[in-house]
Amino acid sequence: MSGAAIIDGKAFAETLRGKVAKIAASFEQAAGRKAGLAVVLVGEDPASQVYVRSKGKQTVACGMESFQFLLPTETTQDELLHLVRRLNDDPAVDGILVQLPLPSHLDEQEVVEAIDPNKDVDGLTPVSTGRLALGLPGLVPCTPLGCLMLLADRFRDRPGSLSGLDAVVIGRSILVGKPMAQLLIKESCTVTIAHSRTKDLAQVVRRADIIVAAVGRTEMVKADWVKPGATVIDVGINRLPPAEGEAKGRLVGDVDFAGVSAVAGAITPVPGGVGPMTIAVLLRNTVVAAHRNEGLTLAEGAI
Ligand code: GUN
Repeated sequence: MSGAAIIDGKAFAETLRGKVAKIAASFEQAAGRKAGLAVVLVGEDPASQVYVRSKGKQTVACGMESFQFLLPTETTQDELLHLVRRLNDDPAVDGILVQLPLPSHLDEQEVVEAIDPNKDVDGLTPVSTGRLALGLPGLVPCTPLGCLMLLADRFRDRPGSLSGLDAVVIGRSILVGKPMAQLLIKESCTVTIAHSRTKDLAQVVRRADIIVAAVGRTEMVKADWVKPGATVIDVGINRLPPAEGEAKGRLVGDVDFAGVSAVAGAITPVPGGVGPMTIAVLLRNTVVAAHRNEGLTLAEGAI
């Protein structure tokens, strides 16, 4: 039986999308146009196609304009760069997201660097990552910002919020691990970034008040790695092989949910935890970028 509080990312994301929709409506009034998000997908990966379509639907549901570009796998670097530059110059587009990973013949870094930092709703350009490292305001990658929102909510009644807590981030990716660590440092946590080469990983994780697991290893974090009462954020989305009679395998995280939820104080489920937050934060970033791009002010902390 679970002892941990379940952090309901799905409900939190719904509330966030509601706030985005209100702000998107007032943006439209003020700017005389809708905020716009362009999403680019290269290749035919079915999971990415589902994900991109879902982004488009949710963008429209929040009262924003969605521009989708589904390009064939054979797309060249020049064609992709040309599209990104066209979107940079398009005043109807406030945010640009190029779905990663790109097919291996394409240079991901060059494509990301071509995105106008003012439209970098994914927070991946050197300008955005640099500003985050400097502790300056800017656009922050969606998944870690979503995790931070869930954590801030979890600790909202604690004096000082996250300040002084020990946080261990497992994973050092540019999409999640590194920006997550930066955000937690900004909240005055003591942050350790652990990864696949970390010695005595279980021992490192055991000291954490906050664990963010973003390694992509099925159910790696076990109950005896977790300090009783710790808050566990599971970013992993891994599909198990189908069991007898199942068409598709179950989705599980990087955390052994059944075991860890008996020990942790709070935990995000998979699915329904961090996953729904990513798109909600993408929409949030888009409406924030739209305000900046039109020179409109949005009160600090409005969303
Ligand atoms: N692929 C998986 N997650 C993400 C994300 O947050 N941004 C981009 N661009 N690609 C992704």
